[in-house]
Amino acid sequence: MVSLTSTPQERVPTAQPEQAVVVETVAILDCGAQYTKVIDRRIRQNNVNTLLVAVDTPAAELKSKVQAIILSGGPNSVYDDHSPQCDPAIFELGIPILGICYGMQLMAQTLGGTVAKGSTQEYGETTITIDPDVSLFADLDAVQSVLMSHGDKVTQMPEGFRAAGSSPAHEGHEILAAMADDERGFVAVQFHPEVELTQHGDAMLANFLTHTCGFTGNFQLDHRLDDLIDDLRAKVGDRNVFVLVSGGVDSTVTAALLLKALGPEKVFAVHIDSGLMRHNESDGVCEALKALGLTHLRRINASDDFFNGTTTLEDGTVIGPLCKTTNPEHKRRIIGDVFYHLITQAVNDLGIDIDDAFIAQGTLRPDLIESGNRDVSATAHIIKTHHNDVPLIQAHREKGLILEPNRDWHKDEVRQVGRLLGLPADLVDRQPFPGPGLGIRVLCATQPYMQGDEAELQQHINAVLPNTLQGITFPVQSVGVQGDGRSYKRLVALVGEETPETLQALARRIPNEIHELNRVCWRLAARNENAPVPNIISTITPTLLTPQSAAMLRSVDDAVTQAFRQAGLLGSISQLLAVLLPVAPHGGEATHSVVIRGVITSDYMTARPARLDSDVPVTLLKQLGQDLVATHPWLDWVLWDLTGKPPATVEWE
Ligand code: XMP
Repeated sequence: MVSLTSTPQERVPTAQPEQAVVVETVAILDCGAQYTKVIDRRIRQNNVNTLLVAVDTPAAELKSKVQAIILSGGPNSVYDDHSPQCDPAIFELGIPILGICYGMQLMAQTLGGTVAKGSTQEYGETTITIDPDVSLFADLDAVQSVLMSHGDKVTQMPEGFRAAGSSPAHEGHEILAAMADDERGFVAVQFHPEVELTQHGDAMLANFLTHTCGFTGNFQLDHRLDDLIDDLRAKVGDRNVFVLVSGGVDSTVTAALLLKALGPEKVFAVHIDSGLMRHNESDGVCEALKALGLTHLRRINASDDFFNGTTTLEDGTVIGPLCKTTNPEHKRRIIGDVFYHLITQAVNDLGIDIDDAFIAQGTLRPDLIESGNRDVSATAHIIKTHHNDVPLIQAHREKGLILEPNRDWHKDEVRQVGRLLGLPADLVDRQPFPGPGLGIRVLCATQPYMQGDEAELQQHINAVLPNTLQGITFPVQSVGVQGDGRSYKRLVALVGEETPETLQALARRIPNEIHELNRVCWRLAARNENAPVPNIISTITPTLLTPQSAAMLRSVDDAVTQAFRQAGLLGSISQLLAVLLPVAPHGGEATHSVVIRGVITSDYMTARPARLDSDVPVTLLKQLGQDLVATHPWLDWVLWDLTGKPPATVEWE
């Protein structure tokens, strides 16, 4: 069970206890949905605190901590034997409750209504009719476009509820899209208000918080920041803090916070050049850190330590060296552990006992949620192992010696904190770059990945494509997030000319219909544009994470970044990246392909691909593709990633 004490319920002004302010807090009871962390983000965006807890958290435990509850969605059927159930006593607490999708069905069933399998399943954007008199829908039009994703439905509402929305009739039966019991402050929706595909979902959640819960939004970032600085001072006392600064926004803001709280004497910044950084990046990072006022700054050039790094798993298995490792989770694990060992070494070099010093890192709330960290996540769904949350770090955390001042924040909040601290815009608005750096963008494989009947898969793809396009699958896997977990699947590259709308629509449709695939790319350029597209690609160029493969990607990455910068497009894309693929469809001298990926997102938990032409001109991309091929003799195809998150992730590993 999750500890409910991690976020202080009261900000207690020590001098005047009578002014203690109760921080408005919602418990999100996690029924296992992939969107729980998005609910978390949306609520916090309204300056309301959240506790992400297990669905069966006893009402008694919630009673004094929260003033409202949200029951999240989830993949199960409420009537199944082992489906997640809540403590029925939560409905007796006298506080507002919002049920979402599975949460609506759970509310209905627990309060005496009925839920059954629908004759039709609804997945995707649906137009529904709502009742604007219900407070959840205040000020909204009666017709709304929402994201539905369910097979079951509420067939009979519990006593006290009224219908608050319906979706169009299927086989003569309308589906109940929303229900409300105004008296008790219970409201439930069959769709997902938390995702961007629900057009006015933000307004609905804000309505719940203001109208149903009566919240004012007193979980304000500037207050939280003051509290945090006080907490840091109290916690650190006379000890020293070592902060690992990659140069990304998260770790830079962490360093700036520590400087503000503790002053320059106690803060030792360590920048490790892992050999997996971008072109000239470490130089720029060290200059920026000096400009922040950090006087103890140490740069460690450690590429050899990383490429040759190994580590030991809990069961005693030794993994590595990194330059021979293909498993993405193992790569992350080795990189995280090498970072830890290097910082430990740096601390020892100063004659300080590691057990007497704090290590600070820039970990965000979604990082902890996605790596299944028990402090913030009720259900341990590991989407990816974050390199900041490897067991060595966890062990140091158990000793109370890890400082993660951003652990309560999402990405956009960290940027806001950076601004409040007066950091320059070019630091605060910098695109994220993952700690493992280029290490998770060189797709490593020593043999082709093919599964099942290739001819059948190809037929399936052909059946979906217009005759203007050809589609060819690459024999490699990349990571995605589908349903409630991680997926490793293949990609299809589309070749030919089509409108941006058609290409983008295909990218949404294909992973839904063809379950072997989670990525759809479009070919921008090829070394030999006239060569016929092969019927099948069954070989790869064995590729591992070495100084050479990292240098190949670094060169392409730099060219891509420069092209976007010159076109003035870097600021409008949330994250731009290039990925090295061990596949050369036409072969010859060429050994690899490259994918360019640009995504737009504010929270990085879901993301849409930058749109062709409206966000990034196709002419620019094609020219860039041709230039890359012309300047990199090993490069065969250049692809553009058309896939959103979900079903893919931002990174490829
Ligand atoms: P994904 O690929 O999970 O990425 O959609 C979401 C955001 O997280 C970054 N990312 C990482 N950052 N260590 C990091 O510091 C990691 O292991 C890691 N993996 C992904 C990614 O670049 C994106 O901004």
